[in-house]
Amino acid sequence: MKLFLDTANIDEIKALNNTGFVDGVTTNPSLIAKSGRDLMETIAEICDLVDGPVSAEVTATDAETMLKEGQKLAKIADNVAVKVPLTEAGLLVCKALSDQGTMVNVTLCFSTAQALLAAKAGAKFISPFVGRLDDIGSNGMGLIEEIVTIYANYDMRTEVLVASVRGVQHVVDAALMGADVATVPPQVISAMFKHPLTDKGLAAFMSDWEKTGQSIL
Ligand code: G3P
Repeated sequence: MKLFLDTANIDEIKALNNTGFVDGVTTNPSLIAKSGRDLMETIAEICDLVDGPVSAEVTATDAETMLKEGQKLAKIADNVAVKVPLTEAGLLVCKALSDQGTMVNVTLCFSTAQALLAAKAGAKFISPFVGRLDDIGSNGMGLIEEIVTIYANYDMRTEVLVASVRGVQHVVDAALMGADVATVPPQVISAMFKHPLTDKGLAAFMSDWEKTGQSIL
């Protein structure tokens, strides 16, 4: 399973990029606003830093303007994936951009029916927001299971990109369900490294080793 970083913060991306675990980046208008930086400059900088797909979201809601925005975003770099919302207009633009050879990430997906239409519109990625579904008492990972099943039933090529990830368990569940990608906030990636028994075991190894008085170097 691929791991994308869900952030527009350049420093956060730089900090994790050398781990080799960063297969791409996703941004959205809220993450760009949080970064306090210019959208076009930020996306260009991220595309220089990361080899994998970098999602940049349109900010219009009508098809004509979304298409123009998407074409402009796609010109920033070859690894730009244009994000469009899962609306009727967004899927029209998804089809048009996909036909032009642009990667499209269809975002704000909250139902299996929506995901089915996104695949039929030629989306490269579908982004179901599992955390926001959980937040209202729905079953976010249940949606992932249904989408993965339906895409496999018909050999649909759209990649399931699990978004709105709230913690390590979402990442593990996404992998168990066969999702293609999880886009993960940096703090969740950091949490994936950690386990208290690892820390405890390492401390015990170091303590016992110190008693030997030996040194490898
Ligand atoms: O990639 C989508 C993600 O940024 C949304 O996450 O936490 O705002 O639901 P969240």
